[in-house]
Amino acid sequence: MKNLIKKAALEHILSREELIEILRDDSCSEELYKAADGVRQKYVGDEIHLRALIEFSNICRNNCCYCGLRRDNKNIERYRIDEETIFKLAEHAVKVMGLKTIVLQSGEDMFYTTEKLERLLQRIKKLDVAITLSIGEKTLKEYQAYKKSGADRFLLRIETTDKDLYLRYDPGMSWEQRAQCLQDLKKAGLELGSGCLVGLPGQTTESYADDILFFKKIGADMIGVGPFIAHPDTPLRNASGGTLQMALKVMALTRLLLPDINIPATTAMESLAPNGQKKALQSGANVIMPNVTLTTYRRHYELYPGKSNTGYTPDESLQKVKDLISSIGRKVGQDFGTSKHFSNNFNK
Ligand code: 5AD
Ligand code: SF4
Repeated sequence: MKNLIKKAALEHILSREELIEILRDDSCSEELYKAADGVRQKYVGDEIHLRALIEFSNICRNNCCYCGLRRDNKNIERYRIDEETIFKLAEHAVKVMGLKTIVLQSGEDMFYTTEKLERLLQRIKKLDVAITLSIGEKTLKEYQAYKKSGADRFLLRIETTDKDLYLRYDPGMSWEQRAQCLQDLKKAGLELGSGCLVGLPGQTTESYADDILFFKKIGADMIGVGPFIAHPDTPLRNASGGTLQMALKVMALTRLLLPDINIPATTAMESLAPNGQKKALQSGANVIMPNVTLTTYRRHYELYPGKSNTGYTPDESLQKVKDLISSIGRKVGQDFGTSKHFSNNFNK
């Protein structure tokens, strides 16, 4: 097994069977983390890129069975942050906190029309900052419009490549449609971010192997892997949820096979274990997304329970992240932190 991991760290190739073999063998996880850490250092260096996350609306037209923001959840207070306040949060993140990427995330809220988003993107872009959108499934035309107005990147997780599971947990949605969106994002020239959940009931090592191979196939520039955490106000309330170990293994294998992409240490990892994000940064991750949404809103953006940091102010969250980075001898990225995979392939 150790040889297999070594080979993957050098060649960045593993077959489906080899991926499954590694995913099943927990005795080799430390070797795997170490190998992913080495590949991370070789391809994307020691800098950790910070992204200012603004959760600007928790209203969603979808009904994903795992998510606390699902349409049918009547137990949350819904909010929308107005354009002016979103801009002010972004301005604070750039001018006061010194962050160089703004991530605008929301449920699939139809209130923010393309026109409204274009206006907002153009305003934020004047701050000389990279912009990532994470607002769900849209048309190619809309993705192109966002790009034209200043968006650089887009996050849309495939969640799982197991189509049966997708159908079961994302009622009313289509896996093919989601995969089409990923192609459209690429066509629109946006840096492509995707990813998956780990630990949904029914997910198997086979399906994680497929997820990782899928990330490679679509030419992803960024991949976020998050353990599923059961939310009490969802149909999956009684599920046991994902483990940090499996999420880290899927993430580390993703780093081995897609060496030059950006990989965040996800908040769900931190929610699961106090040192989850630190462990992730030492197992292949090179990005952290401190939450800069005002605390008053943030407590309502509960994708899963105990979403970490909910009690902290934006400035406190940032300080915690900076302390973590220096504690492991790494540096805060000083530029936009564009995915090397994206810049390496841009003119090809
Ligand atoms: N546990 C962990 N992650 C979740 N997400 C949604 N619900 C949960 C949950 N219960 C993730 C999805 C989505 C991202 C914004 O949050 O993967 O793409
Ligand atoms: Fe909506 Fe995203 Fe939650 Fe699904 S995962 S309900 S699309 S916010």
